[in-house]
Amino acid sequence: MNFGAGPGALPLEVLEEVAAELGDIAGTGMGVLEHSHRGAFFEGVLAETLTLLRELTGLPDSHEILLMQGGASLQFGLVPMNLLREGARAGYVVGGAWGEKALDEGKRAAALVGGEATLLASSEESGRYVRPVVDVPDARGLAYVHFTSNETIHGIEYDLPSGVATPMPKGVACVCDASSNFLARPYAYAGFDLVYAGAQKNIGPAGLVVVFVKKSMLAEHTPKLPNILRYDQHAKSGSLLNTPPTLSIEITRRVLRWLRAKGGLAAIGAQNARKAQLLYGTIDAFPSVYRAPVTSGARSEMNAVFHFVRAEDQAVFLEQAARAGFVGLAGHRSAGGMRVSMYNAVPLAWVEALCDFMRTFAAARA
Ligand SMILES: Cc1ncc(COP(=O)(O)O)c(C=O)c1O
Repeated sequence: MNFGAGPGALPLEVLEEVAAELGDIAGTGMGVLEHSHRGAFFEGVLAETLTLLRELTGLPDSHEILLMQGGASLQFGLVPMNLLREGARAGYVVGGAWGEKALDEGKRAAALVGGEATLLASSEESGRYVRPVVDVPDARGLAYVHFTSNETIHGIEYDLPSGVATPMPKGVACVCDASSNFLARPYAYAGFDLVYAGAQKNIGPAGLVVVFVKKSMLAEHTPKLPNILRYDQHAKSGSLLNTPPTLSIEITRRVLRWLRAKGGLAAIGAQNARKAQLLYGTIDAFPSVYRAPVTSGARSEMNAVFHFVRAEDQAVFLEQAARAGFVGLAGHRSAGGMRVSMYNAVPLAWVEALCDFMRTFAAARA
């Protein structure tokens, strides 16, 4: 039972399906790894992947869907390089380690195009486990505001779309790193000018990144960049600017089919809510043993963080949990404690089993 934060659990039936067809897919006599990315077979795979993403999210035609490489971290640089002009400024809402990285990398990338990436709001002074408060007047005149919708390490989530609670001033674009809660429930992605998400939590293999970008943003691209770094060029080529990660796209296509068969984002969202409710309920039921540091209302449904009241319980818990078949529970090395990642492919039954284990463990400590 894999509760790892990413790469996370993927649906076993999808992995088995893909594995069975690695040598010969759909009777074509060869596997997806060997098919030309410009051939009819792979074109079909790519087209279906894009169609499924649009269908599942209801993303309107106003937005382009790009499949890119380099992980979400490459987007930390591409966003400012593509969206900033000479002398323009972007504002970053930093609610945890990933927002901080986006800003840090964004500063370097912004400087390359003569722009500036600045801190707009931070939760650092409040100890990280709350959502940062955005002061809307401060956002006036910015080219874009960057949010991280789910802080994977600190376990804080924005209740999107309303979590971008305060609409940005007119003319300020809204950019979101949605890597760790992408497609976890219905979101109004169309409300963003640009959304990017690494695939390795909810939809596929690491390295692949999905970008939703408003077409009007592409029209204003900066011309100084090599083509491979430009969103408009990726859009123009239909995500075939160079050889794409064909196997990763095929796995993603199958995961998206799996998601549709489960009832789409509304159904998976209901299951994710139930899983989170169960887990946080179990943590809160034993305040003498466990403590969830994130303020209620900001708690992530994807990554539930908790600590032990008695620090010495941690090693015992991890050791017993491993013996009981639970993996990936240790918190990020920078934050400590436990982190339970409950991505889409983590079934309710695993969370129920973990909660049973936590109750038994707590009872033995009481
Ligand atoms: C919210 C968030 N953003 C960005 C990243 C970086 O993704 P990648 O390793 O694909 O570059 C991660 C990775 O865990 C993440 O959780």
